[in-house]
Formats: sequence, structure tokens, C-alpha cells
Amino acid sequence: PEKMDLPPRPQLFDFHGVSMTHYFTDNWENVQNFQARPDDILIATYPKAGTTWVSYILDLLYFGQMAPEHQTSIPIYERVPFLELSESIGNSGTELANNLPTSPRLIKTHLPVQLVPKSFWEQNCRMVYVARNAKDNMVSFFHFDRMDMSEPEPGDWNNFFQRFLDGKMVFGSWYDHVNGWWKKKQTYSKLHYMFYEDLIEDTGREIDKLCCFLGLSPSAEEKKQITGGVQFDNMKNNSMANYSTVPFMDFKISPFMRKGKVGDWKKHFTVAQNEEFDEDYKKKMKDPTLQFRTEI
Ligand code: A3P
Repeated sequence: PEKMDLPPRPQLFDFHGVSMTHYFTDNWENVQNFQARPDDILIATYPKAGTTWVSYILDLLYFGQMAPEHQTSIPIYERVPFLELSESIGNSGTELANNLPTSPRLIKTHLPVQLVPKSFWEQNCRMVYVARNAKDNMVSFFHFDRMDMSEPEPGDWNNFFQRFLDGKMVFGSWYDHVNGWWKKKQTYSKLHYMFYEDLIEDTGREIDKLCCFLGLSPSAEEKKQITGGVQFDNMKNNSMANYSTVPFMDFKISPFMRKGKVGDWKKHFTVAQNEEFDEDYKKKMKDPTLQFRTEI
């Protein structure tokens, strides 16, 4: 794609207690007042937890048969608008969502649960949350911030590691994010909480669970097609799914579809960092019902 010159990398600032950059707060008025529809499906994640993967699965489940040309001509970030993205880097998420020709609308957000616009709760919308173990999530986020010029300067790995533990990342603390959404699940029944590691382990099984939650019953043939289409290599080679059409991402630094693995953190964490991480993790993750796998 044609390169796009963005202003210097944005600074983080505190926004209602969550670290943010202006790219996700400039359109806040419209985000907050967004009118959800009862059949909207919100895909919520902490950045780099598998958002695109699950977005593509849902897109294929709903529109793969009905509008196959849709997947080959429109990039995933337009098929599944990013709610809080402001117009400074393209169309705003709210505008894209309001202009979507298809329904149900699939809408992506990285907002922590307490910042989700109230209309989604009032309309009792279905929500799919994807969580990924903190270690791999951190590594993926680091490489993403290196290549995405709309992200804050990542600094070196050691510095990034500390910032992640301190929750000074865009969309705030991973720990608060995954816990906040997990807690919500106890009181909001239309929330399906899933894990990246489970998807890696058995994509078909996780698609079955999703279908059960969404009330969908694809044919065996259709399911096979979807499971195949969303495998890492297929998505990596799919220009409508791999973000290669985004002008401010530098794939020479790191591709968006980077590795797609569980356990890549082992190549990044030093022994000392791993100890520090585990120590800190125990203090922050007190709920025994929320368990992550850092290897499978
Ligand atoms: P890595 O950087 O570890 O490779 P998000 O979509 O939330 O930004 O998450 C991006 C991460 O999900 C990247 O992780 C990317 O490679 C991974 N990913 C995307 N599609 C995938 C797939 N089909 N299978 C496995 N991992 C996938």
C-alpha cells in the first residue's frame, strides 16, 4: 500500500483511569452515544489476543455462504469496524459501523469492560471476549508496537516488559482487562469468554462452542471450510485478513500475522524477567477461576 505519513508516535495519557492514545479518544462523544442494535455482536479483546482471528471466524460464520465476495474484496477491518477508532487514520469506527450494509453487525472493541458504551448492555447484545495468556500477549504487543506507527514508541524489550507489568499500555492493564471482563461474565449471560490457547489447541471445538452460543448450525462442509480458512498460514496469506493493506504498518519491521503460536514468550523473556513476571502475576491474578495456559 501507499505509505502514509502519520504524525510522530502518540503519547499515552490517562483516560478515565486507563492509558490511551488520542486515536481512540478523539471520537469519544460518538463512541459513548453509539446506538447498538439488539443483534449486534461485540468482539472484545485486549490488543493482540486474537481479535482478527475471531473476527474472521464470525465473519465467515455469518457471511461466508451468503456473500463470499465480501471476504475477497473488503478488508477485515472494514467488515468488522473497530468501534473506538477515530477518523484520524481512516473512517471512524462508529461511522463504519453505522454504514455497514450487512447484519448482524460484527463490531470490534479493545475497551475495558467499564468503558463499553451503555447501549450494548441496554440492547442485551451478544459479546465474544477473547483472552490470551499475558506472556505471549505481551510479546505480540511488543512486535506490533514496533511496526504500527500509530502506536506509542515501544522502546526496547526491557522497557516494554516493565510498562506491561505497570499497565501503561494502550487500553490499559492486561490484568485489569481480562479480570474485568471475566467478572462481567458472572452477571451478564450473553458474554462468551474464550481463550487464544484453546483456539490453537482445537479450532473446530472452539467454533462449535461459538456456534452454540450464537445459535448457529453450519453444515459439516461449511464448518470444515471455515476451520481451514482461518488457519494461521491461510490468514497470513490472505490480503483481506492480514492487514497488509494498512499504510501505516511496516511489515518489514514485523508482519501483523507474526507467529501465531503459544509459548513464543520463551524466546523473549530472560530467566530473571520470567521470575519477576510470575511473582507479580500472583499478586495481580487472585481469582482462581480464571486460569491461563502459557504452553500447550
Ligand atoms: P503473534 O504476534 O503472536 O503472532 P490481534 O488480532 O488481536 O491483533 O492479535 C494478533 C495475534 O494473533 C498475532 O499473534 C497473530 O499472529 C495472531 N493470529 C492471527 N490470526 C491467527 C490465526 N489464524 N492463528 C493463530 N494466530 C493468529
